[in-house]
Amino acid sequence: MELEALGGFSGEVLDIGCGLGDNAIYLASRGHSVTALDGSPAAIEEARRRAAAAGVTVNFDVADATKLTGYEGRFDTVVDSALYHCLDDDGRQAYIAALYRATRPGARLHLSCFSDGNVNGVIAPMGAVPESNIRDTLTANGWRIDFLGPTTYLGNAVRFGTNEDSLTQHLADQMPPEALEQMRQTTERFAKIAELLEDNRVHLPFTVVHAHRVD
Ligand SMILES: C[S@@+](CC[C@H](N)C(=O)[O-])C[C@H]1O[C@@H](n2cnc3c(N)ncnc32)[C@H](O)[C@@H]1O
Repeated sequence: MELEALGGFSGEVLDIGCGLGDNAIYLASRGHSVTALDGSPAAIEEARRRAAAAGVTVNFDVADATKLTGYEGRFDTVVDSALYHCLDDDGRQAYIAALYRATRPGARLHLSCFSDGNVNGVIAPMGAVPESNIRDTLTANGWRIDFLGPTTYLGNAVRFGTNEDSLTQHLADQMPPEALEQMRQTTERFAKIAELLEDNRVHLPFTVVHAHRVD
């Protein structure tokens, strides 16, 4: 909301990895022309329902962010809220290269993802992307970084596993051992502070990046 108020969005907007669509819906409510894409058909279905309930028009569709086939040269502003850290290294390279193809010269990119820092001892439950990874991937694929710095993302501690029935166990079977270990450490830390939290809300370490397409 702050970024929008400061003029961070112009022209055709892409919300990539839009999830349930709340950012896209907000931007559309502010008068922007928004396309919002996600790899999950279930997420897109729910996002469409929310947009209809909000009375706004967003062009929602299912798409793979690492390809973005059919969207060449379309967008002037891209927002990535928490997609980048979901991808492995090859996926990140393919994704940022796909964003280059999907945008116009001078396009702006606002990206935020889990960092490898901590907020008063709280670490990211997954991803934990070092700054150097973002810098290398963006500059190798035609983007110039205008700002990169620490921020936080207000997450729900319950969803990251402060109890036995949480998402953690459900995801465990699909996760590589190092990711599982990171999740275990996060769970341990959350358990220590759980009773101190209001509404289970906890600030998680994030990096925010503003970049533009070089040409
Ligand atoms: C942590 S959620 C963030 C959702 C939303 N942007 C937000 O801020 O709440 C990450 C989203 O990225 C999507 N995603 C992961 N990999 C993807 C890919 N290769 N292509 C498109 N979407 C992907 C997931 O389906 C999920 O909805």
